[in-house]
Amino acid sequence: MSGAAAEIVFDRVTKRYPGRAEAAVSDLSLTVPAGEICCLVGPSGAGKTTAMKLVNRLIDFEEGDITIGGESVRSLDLTELRRGIGYVIQQVGLFPHMTVAENISTVPRLRGWEKGRTRLRVDELLDLVDLPAEDYRARFPSQLSGGERQRVGLARALAADPPAMLMDEPFGALDPITRARLQHELLRIQGAVRKTIIFVTHDIDEAILLADRIAILREGGVLAQYDTPARILEHPADDFVERFIGSDRGIKLLSLRRLDELELAPLDGAIDLRASGDTTMRDALSQMITHGSRSLVVVDSEGQPRGVVTLDALAALAE
Ligand SMILES: Nc1ncnc2c1ncn2[C@@H]1O[C@H](COP(=O)(O)OP(=O)(O)OP(=O)(O)O)[C@@H](O)[C@H]1O
Ligand SMILES: [Mg+2]
Repeated sequence: MSGAAAEIVFDRVTKRYPGRAEAAVSDLSLTVPAGEICCLVGPSGAGKTTAMKLVNRLIDFEEGDITIGGESVRSLDLTELRRGIGYVIQQVGLFPHMTVAENISTVPRLRGWEKGRTRLRVDELLDLVDLPAEDYRARFPSQLSGGERQRVGLARALAADPPAMLMDEPFGALDPITRARLQHELLRIQGAVRKTIIFVTHDIDEAILLADRIAILREGGVLAQYDTPARILEHPADDFVERFIGSDRGIKLLSLRRLDELELAPLDGAIDLRASGDTTMRDALSQMITHGSRSLVVVDSEGQPRGVVTLDALAALAE
């Protein structure tokens, strides 16, 4: 398995751990279209990690089926299946005694790629995750920051060009600034490589930012809702989902919309605060609040003013 993104389908999957009365995943059916990011969210113990690990069979299951690109994960050779799916976790799991280059090239080497090809791939991936190859290739994991380690983990998962990636709270241990940076990096990288990604997170804001679709699980691994971020925020399926996404749904919805969509008021008087049209309404709102300004000038790519958006207009949209 390598190359183009593959659709992932859960078809009525149930997982029971031995000796436990309640199932960890219950009758789960969902389709992740090829090239999309699906975020699995839900409270602790809701079965997110279990559901994800069923895909590369780190955990086995008996009821239902999971297919990748139309093939049942149970019909695929286990070693090939695991090598064929990129896997990134919070603890990274880099090999401490191997250099960055050796870590990234683990799967290509197992696949018997020749040295030149492997070296080129390592440099290409370091470039993709924004770590200059000359500087980072020969370092050991202990010589990296937490954020850099996560980047190497991501590069390693992408090394053999897998059709699918599984990511379990990969940014969970990072400080908020590094975390935000890596979230945007992931979106940029996804724009370039288009993998099918299942991404587990506790953080609904992270899911809203990253996901094409969000699957919300509740206790017992029951699917509460599977939909686009906007539809989940606009139409939560039930009280559980509504509580899970929080009371500030309106503000969260603003993070999905950009200033370009607004009808702007004409410019009158001097306003210091400026933002480009691709700024999210949520970012614009927080800028206004931070600067104590009741309005903001929207500028075009040349920095020329296009019009004004007011705090009141955004606040009204968030209600
Ligand atoms: N190996 C295991 N044996 C028995 N029960 C398990 C095992 N692993 C997980 N569980 C149980 O299955 C349920 C789902 O666990 P899982 O790790 O999938 O949850 P999660 O949604 O990933 O939680 P968290 O957000 O805390 O990571 C929990 O009730 C957990 O206690
Ligand atoms: Mg988990």
